[in-house]
Amino acid sequence: MAGGAMAENMCNQKLLPVFHITGGEGWINDPNGLVEFHGEYHVFFQYYPHDCKWGPMHWGHVKSRDLTHWERLPIALYPDENEDGCFSGSAVVWEGKLWLLYTGFKQNEGGETVRQLQCLASSDDGIHFVKHGVVIGEKELPADYCPWDFRDPKVFRRGGMFYCIVAAKKRGAGGRILLFESEDLFRWKFVVDLFERDGKGFMIECPDIRDDMGLLLYSEQFYPADGNKFLNVHSSLYCFGELTLPRGYRAEGEGEIVDYGFDFYAPQTFPNTPVMIGWLNMWDRTNPFEKYGFAGQLTVPRRLIRKGNRLLQQPVYDGVPVRTEKDFSILSDHLLVGAVKVQAKGLSEFSVCLRKSDEYVTLFERRGDVWIFDRSKSGMPISGAEKDADSLAGIRRMPYEDIEQTEIEIVSDLFSLEIFVNGISLSSVICPPTDADRLDLRISAGSCIYTRYQMK
Ligand code: FRU
Repeated sequence: MAGGAMAENMCNQKLLPVFHITGGEGWINDPNGLVEFHGEYHVFFQYYPHDCKWGPMHWGHVKSRDLTHWERLPIALYPDENEDGCFSGSAVVWEGKLWLLYTGFKQNEGGETVRQLQCLASSDDGIHFVKHGVVIGEKELPADYCPWDFRDPKVFRRGGMFYCIVAAKKRGAGGRILLFESEDLFRWKFVVDLFERDGKGFMIECPDIRDDMGLLLYSEQFYPADGNKFLNVHSSLYCFGELTLPRGYRAEGEGEIVDYGFDFYAPQTFPNTPVMIGWLNMWDRTNPFEKYGFAGQLTVPRRLIRKGNRLLQQPVYDGVPVRTEKDFSILSDHLLVGAVKVQAKGLSEFSVCLRKSDEYVTLFERRGDVWIFDRSKSGMPISGAEKDADSLAGIRRMPYEDIEQTEIEIVSDLFSLEIFVNGISLSSVICPPTDADRLDLRISAGSCIYTRYQMK
């Protein structure tokens, strides 16, 4: 492909996604500590500011009033002499302070992680944090779990108590999720293994739980592929069930895929708002964005809706409609930073070329009983650890549902496309040049409405 020419033209240019959260420079992974504090949304993230690769983890920090425009704040947590890194975790507001519970760890001289421990930090102003050290350590972890795979606490308060779920690994078995309780955030006690079965993958990461929806969200390393699902090297899953505190959680059925795209992992939700943000990337992928000085971005925030046993997602963005068309079969437009919604009745055909130029195109279309997303000609190539035919070909599929009303929403930023079909999502990064902005749509339906939104 024409990557060589493009690489030369665009080299050393500083370019960042416009409304997606990044570190500004350097590497980011999981969203952490999503929380509402003094009327603003705070998002932290795994951050290594000094390189476009994973390194000793800091907590980067941004805040927003509308979930679209983010203000960058100083780094909230730094690794120090007691901790080789500050891994993922969560936040809770109590007695006017913002508290962070995160995983700290120490490596031995050979660089091996010997234990992962849950640590506490707090802030009065939501900007400057003081560390309080380890609060859930080896003493609180039952002996039959591995101390080196024990991470990503998600804290919440119910009925005058604090609870926290932490990903763990039973010795000689699979990933588990453990529940701890505390009266004061400092002294914690193990309650129960919430996840009675072993995860099918190697280790669970970043669990989150919402009793308002009965939702359990978690990510699993090396989760096995199943048809068009779980093709990425690691996957995020959800299930519904009942959380009875402090007894435990009864899951109904197997974990379901959260997102069908190439790039989605480690999602977390805000405590008081059912809005989720994930890492819009995947481990072990090449990073064409290095030439712009960054690695990794977070997804657009997504409002969660439970419909029966399905988790539906609605992207949240502050946009204004700038173009509307009705009952067309072919339409051409431009979409670079913004969103598009197509509402159709009696849909039979749909095909859209996105981020198109004479050289590049990303395709999303219905083919029989599947939706196909094809980023093989999107721009700079991206490859990873996945070796199945679809991954190598730059393709992801999700099931097509033959229903009367179809709503397709496409959220586009300079380096990503997040596609929602009736609330089921497919998210991927792409790396085209910024002049590849044409959109060509073909549709066959009883009736349809097209709306394009511009970010405010
Ligand atoms: C998930 C994860 C977490 C860990 C963090 C380290 O992507 O592996 O389990 O806390 O990333 O950066």
